[in-house]
Amino acid sequence: MANLKTTFAGLELRNPIVAASCGLSSTLDGVVKLEQAGVGAVVLKSLFEENIVREIQHLSSVDDHTEAADYLQGYMRAQRVDDYIRFIGNCKSKCSIPIIASICCHSRGEWMAYARAIEKAGADGLELNVMGLCARREYNNGDYEKLHCDIVREVKNLINIPIIVKLGANITNPVALTERLKAYGASAVVCFNRPFQTDIDVDTMRYVSGKVTSNPSDLSNPLRWVGLISASVKGISFALSGGVHTYNGPIKAILAGANAVEVCSVLYEQGDGWVAKALENLEQWMDRQGFESVEEFCGRMNASDSDAAEQLERVQFLKFFSAK
Ligand SMILES: Cc1cc2nc3c(=O)[nH]c(=O)nc-3n(C[C@H](O)[C@H](O)[C@H](O)COP(=O)(O)O)c2cc1C
Repeated sequence: MANLKTTFAGLELRNPIVAASCGLSSTLDGVVKLEQAGVGAVVLKSLFEENIVREIQHLSSVDDHTEAADYLQGYMRAQRVDDYIRFIGNCKSKCSIPIIASICCHSRGEWMAYARAIEKAGADGLELNVMGLCARREYNNGDYEKLHCDIVREVKNLINIPIIVKLGANITNPVALTERLKAYGASAVVCFNRPFQTDIDVDTMRYVSGKVTSNPSDLSNPLRWVGLISASVKGISFALSGGVHTYNGPIKAILAGANAVEVCSVLYEQGDGWVAKALENLEQWMDRQGFESVEEFCGRMNASDSDAAEQLERVQFLKFFSAK
């Protein structure tokens, strides 16, 4: 009988399917439901650096410089953090699976102080989603990657729980960055975050939100990078995030080298009943293939296999189309 247990970022998970950070993991009821649905761990909805700042600015817009506004700013900051800390504590008291807190940030700032409180509240790990577009002309190549390293180094000095870095797909070299993040103390990387999708309404000629949830074809990019990074960088865990919609999606992610598979859109679109079906599919596939543990096939198709490397490293279609 297949054993679905896996180790991710030093955490023992009953299975590799993890609920990604999103609205479904923003309430205690939601988190409890995800545990009941069978996930191996939950990443809580992120605490956003911007949200806190925006809320403070809105409430203190009358006069930014009064004593009252200063008090209000301090109070608001504490409130939001307190809510999140309480939320972590409540999740820990109701659930037995690992609870991973999450912070979306874009700078080295005061949010770092929250990391210690998050650890104290009982979070089993902290996922850092360092978001940035780096679209300014003054930008120097490598600044964004350096920001990731600086953040991990500083947060690592504050906490002992595993630090998981959720990467954007717009970093220069995920292999090199993962190697550096490991050296600074990260326990895992997640490939990749899904940024806000921009679209244009041609009737109103206004920018609008594109499709919020992912598509099955989005799996290709994280599959490639997990396959490439996991072959090169040892001693760190990997989670794949993005485009896992089919029951075979988690199997593909693990074959490429993922120790865990973070899912979100499919839970919105198909409901959390998807988790049990995907786990059943994984178990049956492992039995058919003769695998007793997840570890046995994790990374079997990463770039250390020469056939796989050829596919993973292919960026142009020439050979493919000339054979058609
Ligand atoms: C509605 C929604 C809310 C999300 N909120 C967050 C968030 O707060 N923090 C975060 O790191 N990622 C967030 N994400 C990104 C997901 O965690 C995930 O990385 C992304 O959707 C790709 O996975 P998927 O293809 O399984 O959806 C959100 C995604 C969606 C659709």
